[in-house]
Amino acid sequence: MRYDFNEPINRENTNSVKFDYAREYFGTSDLIPMWVADMDFRTPDFIMDAIRERTDHEILGYSVRPDSFYQAIINWYARQQNWPIQKDWILFSPGVVAALSMAVKAFTDEGDKVIVQPPVYHPFFSVIRENKRVLVYNTLIEDQGNYRMDLDDLKKKIDPSVKLLLLSHPHNPVGRVWSPEELKEIAELCLENNILILSDEIHSDLVFHPHIHTPLSTLGDSIADNTITCVAASKTFNLAGLSSSAVIISNEELRARFNHEIQTGHLHMGNIFGTIAMEAAYSKGADWLEQLLSYLQGNADLLVEFTESNLPGITVRSPEATYLAWIDMKNLGMKSKELRRFMINEAKIGCNDGSGFGPGGTGYQRMNFACPRSTLEKALDQLKQAVDKQWSRSSFK
Ligand SMILES: Cc1ncc(COP(=O)(O)O)c(C=O)c1O
Repeated sequence: MRYDFNEPINRENTNSVKFDYAREYFGTSDLIPMWVADMDFRTPDFIMDAIRERTDHEILGYSVRPDSFYQAIINWYARQQNWPIQKDWILFSPGVVAALSMAVKAFTDEGDKVIVQPPVYHPFFSVIRENKRVLVYNTLIEDQGNYRMDLDDLKKKIDPSVKLLLLSHPHNPVGRVWSPEELKEIAELCLENNILILSDEIHSDLVFHPHIHTPLSTLGDSIADNTITCVAASKTFNLAGLSSSAVIISNEELRARFNHEIQTGHLHMGNIFGTIAMEAAYSKGADWLEQLLSYLQGNADLLVEFTESNLPGITVRSPEATYLAWIDMKNLGMKSKELRRFMINEAKIGCNDGSGFGPGGTGYQRMNFACPRSTLEKALDQLKQAVDKQWSRSSFK
C-alpha cells in the first residue's frame, strides 16, 4: 500500500501542543507551527485499526502487556537494527523523558555530576537540575556545520563525582548518527571512569540512507553492561500522546535498580492503547517506515536546496537522522531575541529557538519538517520573503 504524506490535516482544536499551545508559546497563532517533535501525518492505519478494534470492547480496565507485545519489540530491533534483545531486558516507561529522570534518580545521588552534550534536547538539562544533580556540559564541536564529540574536553571534566552521561543517539537537534568508532571511544572512556551511559535512542528508526544506526549496546558485552537504552515507537509512528516507551537494560543489577524506581513511582502499568499501538507499530510498521523516510528525505532535500539557492546568510545540512533540521542563522547577524522575533513576526514560522538547547545553540533554529511538502514550501517562501526584507534593510546586501 502507498501512503499519502502530502495530505494536509487540520490539527487545530485537537488540544495539540504544537498547534493549540502555539498561541501561548509564541504569543500569536498567525504562524506555521514547526516546533514540537511530532508529525503532521496520520498515525498509520494499522495502528489506528488496532486501537479501534480494542475500543469495540467497551471495558477499559487494568491490563497487562501480553507476550506478543514483547515479541514485537524483540523482532523489530533484531530486524531493523541487528540488535538481539531478550524479553526480560525490556521494561516499560511512560515516556523517554520520564525514563531519563528515573535513571538520574536510580543511578546517581544528589550532588553527583551528570554529563550532557549540548546543543541537546532541553529536558536533558531539567531532569538533572530538578533532581538536584549537577549538570556538566561537554559541548559538541561544530566545524562548518559538521558536529563531533569533544572527548578532550570530556576527559578534563571527569572526576569521581561524575556518575552518568546522557547520550542523544541519534542526536537531537544536530541530526548526527554517531558512528561505531565514535561510540566505542566515548563508551570506553566512560567504562574506564565508572560512568554509566543512558543512550536515548528514540530517533533511531528515523535514519536516512546511507547512515546506519548502531545501538550502543551492540558494541560489546562490557559496553552493554554499562548502558541503559531508551527506545520508543512514538517519534517513528506519531504516537507521542500515548505516553509509552521501553527501556532496555541487559545488566541485571542495573535493571533491578531501574525497576525499583519504576515500581516505587507506580509507573509500570502504562495504558491499554499505548501497549496496543506499540505492538502494532513494531509488528506491522516496516513498510510504512520505509515510505515515511523516503518522504522525509524529500523534505530535507527541498529544505537544503531551497536554503542554498534562496536564503543568503542561512545554512542547513541534511540531518543524518530525525525530522528536525538544525538551521544556522548566525550570519543574519541578529541577537538571540531579535532572531526569535524575526522568525515569529516576519517569517511567521514557529521553530524552536536554538538557545533553548544550551551552549552552542544561539543563532540556530530547529525546524520540524515532518509535514506535508506544501506546508514546508509555504514556510520556505515566507522565510525567503522575510530574509529578502532583512537584507534590503541592512547596509550590506
Ligand atoms: C531525544 C529525545 N528524547 C526524548 C523525547 C521525548 O520522549 P517522550 O515523549 O517519550 O518523553 C524527545 C522528543 O522530542 C527527544 O527528541
